[in-house]
Amino acid sequence: MSNNSGDSSIPSQSKPCDGDSNQDSKYALVVEDVHKRYGNFHAVKGVSFRVRKGSCFGVLGPNGAGKTSLLAMMEGLIPITSGKITVLGFDAATQMDRIQPHVGVQLQSNKYFEFLTVAQLLSFYRKFRAAVSGRKSTPSAVWLLERLGLKDKLNFKVDELSGGQKQRLSIAIALLEDPDVIYLDEPTSALDPQSRIYTWEFIEQLKESGDKTIILTTHYMEEAERLCDEIMIMNNGQIIEQGEPSLLAKSLGTDYVIKIDFEKGRFSPDLVSGIRSATSCEWDQGLDVLTVKAGDAATAMSEILDVSKESGAKIINIDIAKNTLEDVFLSHTGMDLRE
Ligand SMILES: Nc1ncnc2c1ncn2[C@@H]1O[C@H](COP(=O)(O)OP(=O)(O)OP(=O)(O)O)[C@@H](O)[C@H]1O
Ligand SMILES: [Mg+2]
Repeated sequence: MSNNSGDSSIPSQSKPCDGDSNQDSKYALVVEDVHKRYGNFHAVKGVSFRVRKGSCFGVLGPNGAGKTSLLAMMEGLIPITSGKITVLGFDAATQMDRIQPHVGVQLQSNKYFEFLTVAQLLSFYRKFRAAVSGRKSTPSAVWLLERLGLKDKLNFKVDELSGGQKQRLSIAIALLEDPDVIYLDEPTSALDPQSRIYTWEFIEQLKESGDKTIILTTHYMEEAERLCDEIMIMNNGQIIEQGEPSLLAKSLGTDYVIKIDFEKGRFSPDLVSGIRSATSCEWDQGLDVLTVKAGDAATAMSEILDVSKESGAKIINIDIAKNTLEDVFLSHTGMDLRE
């Protein structure tokens, strides 16, 4: 990993910037009012957050939100325009030499030596990293490849791998030194559904150890909801929402959205008064669909069934869904998260 933050004069025995208070604190990362400007373009506009040690922290947002720029500053790959980032108690702008041995980075896009085999490439990175950091690698390449479904590709040249296989290889390379802090920039974006689930299971295994801090960016709601303890949603370089995935979904005010298809012409809108627990009811006359929002799905369902029975309005189909992170994003920006 390169470091453009200009810290070559820092002695290798430099102390954590905030003394023991940060080193021993429960936070692996502290980001304070960080900005990134590319010339006149303001890509990250004063972002502050903390990441608990041993947690998985998700950064979501549409294309161009500033996710990769933020990660690149945390990784020491690009200079921080202003603000401060502390990783494991060390200042990312001046103490990257102390941080680097403890972090693994999977970039959003990678270029590898395509003429090397997977085994040769992993061996190259292992030696290179050990020379730079002095830290010995612990997980074996075979173990990593096995976990990522690439064991049979050990003797394949890198240019013989598919896009998704290369993406999984980049995760293996990020983990070669058994890092404490792992950055994954859209780790599953090029993967088919099966490989995506395989990779999620691998990340879940990493989480089980309890001592890895994972920061990942994603466009996938289900990925964030499944893997992340906390998420942050970015748009236009700013944080628009942050919290536990389930709490964010709850912040919309309703937990469940129930859609009921009624037999044509049998339901009358005045019947909604019987669904007392609903926070809102919306009747689509054209489609004969009633949309009920309610905190307690079981109570609302029982009231809907009573209304249906009493009125003789037969139910054709019922669909119950929870508010998702996608809803949170839509409600804050009016934009689809994948736009
Ligand atoms: N080196 C650069 N020079 C100029 N502008 C840049 C540079 N890198 C990124 N940007 C701009 O900064 C903004 C944020 O880009 P960034 O890559 O951080 O977004 P992102 O949230 O990671 O998007 P994506 O989901 O597409 O990966 C974009 O508008 C992008 O064009
Ligand atoms: Mg990106």
